[in-house]
Amino acid sequence: MANLKTNILGRTGLAVTQLGYGSMGLRGPRTWGVRVVEEAEAERVLHAVLDAGINFIDTAPDYGISEERIGRSLGSRRGEFFLATKCGCAYIQHDDHLEVRHEWKPEVVRRNIDASLRRMRTDYVDLLQFHGGDAETLRTSGLIDLLLDLRERGLTRFIGVSTKLPDLPALIDLNVFDTFQIPFSCLAPEHDEWLSRAAASGAGIIVRGGVAQGGPDAEIQRTQLNEVWERAGLEELLPGGMTRAALILRHTLSHPACHTTIVGTCNLLHLAENLASCEAGALPAELCDEIRRRVAAVSG
Ligand SMILES: NC(=O)c1ccc[n+]([C@@H]2O[C@H](COP(=O)([O-])OP(=O)(O)OC[C@H]3O[C@@H](n4cnc5c(N)ncnc54)[C@H](OP(=O)(O)O)[C@@H]3O)[C@@H](O)[C@H]2O)c1
Repeated sequence: MANLKTNILGRTGLAVTQLGYGSMGLRGPRTWGVRVVEEAEAERVLHAVLDAGINFIDTAPDYGISEERIGRSLGSRRGEFFLATKCGCAYIQHDDHLEVRHEWKPEVVRRNIDASLRRMRTDYVDLLQFHGGDAETLRTSGLIDLLLDLRERGLTRFIGVSTKLPDLPALIDLNVFDTFQIPFSCLAPEHDEWLSRAAASGAGIIVRGGVAQGGPDAEIQRTQLNEVWERAGLEELLPGGMTRAALILRHTLSHPACHTTIVGTCNLLHLAENLASCEAGALPAELCDEIRRRVAAVSG
């Protein structure tokens, strides 16, 4: 088992490992440029995640069969991890494909939580998050009251929202969320300050995109992220023996407001590398500052 740092996830009081697991990559056959992950492989990865000591898993009804796979593989290990899912996901069956889109209606959210619990073979989730949405819509549609009611009934222990700018500030101002899930990495640092502001409200902060998809080390290359890496000259800052993905992840882990980052991987070697990065911990402050400075200088 890896020696992973834990943090208190804001007002939830949950002691979460700073390296969490994002299960979007386990979505199955429908692939948006991601390779197909077979059943046995998904099961191996999920068990490896828990065996390594990671105790926070994020999923969503939108992620194909990810929830089913969590239920099938980890249903009997439910007590070993905190489970976060999302809501606001509607399915529309067309002749040739299933469309998944976000709809902010009480009946959609009720259907989502019922289906999520059934798929994941559990009576409760630790965290139920709106999968996007803006403060005004969520409030006036009665959905915040609905989530509070689900919390009251014990179907979820805490409530949160997965969001970004421009919606984040007004969502913080609602002062009802236990957590915020926010994108951040040194290659996409737009929310740098906002992680701290959201944390200052007392909420737990879950960072997504914390390894920037692997950056230049990714199996599937993302041109936009690679360009930031190149233009900022980050290769020059890479300490000997450290991979680019490790530098990116350790930079994310260095953020004082990053309580956990839900890195996705279906590759056991990458999982091992990410665990090692988490064990190695924060980067030296001067290196973080220099990375920030260089990326800011090339960002518009
Ligand atoms: N709107 C939302 O709420 C929203 C949106 C996006 C994501 N999320 C959540 O956040 C999680 C993570 O998001 P994300 O997948 O976009 O970002 P991410 O964790 O930065 O990127 C995951 C990708 O990075 C690769 N990777 C991981 N470790 C690596 C390493 N050491 N070296 C090279 N490549 C590596 C993985 O590929 P391999 O499989 O090849 O390792 C995977 O394709 C998702 O699973 C999901 O739970 C939420």
